Amino acid sequence: MPVPTHIFDPPFNIVRVSHVVLEVTDLAASRAFYETVVGLRVTDADAGTVYLRGVEERQHHSLVLRKADGPACRRIGFRLGHEADLDAAAAFFAQRGLPHAFVEVPFQGRTLHASDPFGLPLELVAGMERRPSSLQRYADYQGVRPQRLDHVNVFAPEVQASLDFYAALGFRLTEYAEEDGPDGRIAAGWMHRKGNVHDLAFTNGRGPRLHHLCYWTPTALDIIHLCDVMATSGYLPNMERGPGRHGISNAFFLYIRDPDGHRIELYTSDYQTMDPDHEPLRWSLRDPRRQTLWGAPAPKTWFEEGSLFAGQDLRDPAFVADVIVAS
Ligand SMILES: [Fe+2]
Repeated sequence: MPVPTHIFDPPFNIVRVSHVVLEVTDLAASRAFYETVVGLRVTDADAGTVYLRGVEERQHHSLVLRKADGPACRRIGFRLGHEADLDAAAAFFAQRGLPHAFVEVPFQGRTLHASDPFGLPLELVAGMERRPSSLQRYADYQGVRPQRLDHVNVFAPEVQASLDFYAALGFRLTEYAEEDGPDGRIAAGWMHRKGNVHDLAFTNGRGPRLHHLCYWTPTALDIIHLCDVMATSGYLPNMERGPGRHGISNAFFLYIRDPDGHRIELYTSDYQTMDPDHEPLRWSLRDPRRQTLWGAPAPKTWFEEGSLFAGQDLRDPAFVADVIVAS
């Protein structure tokens, strides 16, 4: 199937993925998990909401936890270049008849809510309140020492159409997994705006659902340390996959599940991709090094479980991908 063409003059400028809003059922348990186990810093909190950020981050939050009756992902946030990009984005969604509205959100500048054609709830901002970075306040480092939000990955029923839509918004494909043969269909794609492997990835599956959100860590040893801590502090069942080295992205990784089952990846050491002629890298769906370079397949849960987007109906995928699953 065709890989999308790179577009260098998109209708508005998305800089990077910015933040994620999760709905959680037990705010205290989730706060303890993200603050103590993962090591994010709490910027603000009230009775129903906790705002967190990584040690490097200067924006007010990259993760928002909101108390709710059931777990869900409420929004995926993207940072735009300028205020004018917000207006251009609103015009873009209006022109296509897609839902959109300017809303007030605490600690954020002017904020545009919009839905893509596939039901992903987006939150676009050009600015947010600033806070000091703790990058060189090493005494503040806790847990896996998460530096910054790196990317989100979503289950998409229509992967090719999703890649094409985001390519038109300037996202550039870096890697993709495809069926073999002349009519092979793309089952997953990784796209970036900020210059590393991805801000946004699509995985073939029942959706739309959030597959995971990912924080960058300083080193692989931080991830191994987190494994030791989780295994000995009651969080062993929350460790889902890894640690390991991805074939795709080359990143060292671990996947964990929060108290509501939201999936978090800890990730480090991918590579830069900003050259305009950077070619997408193809992987065969049947290459065992794709998921984990060392050959270990992902568990069944990794292909089947994800977080609902609040209020969104689910659709079955356009096709069933013949992926390698751990037995
Ligand atoms: Fe990821």
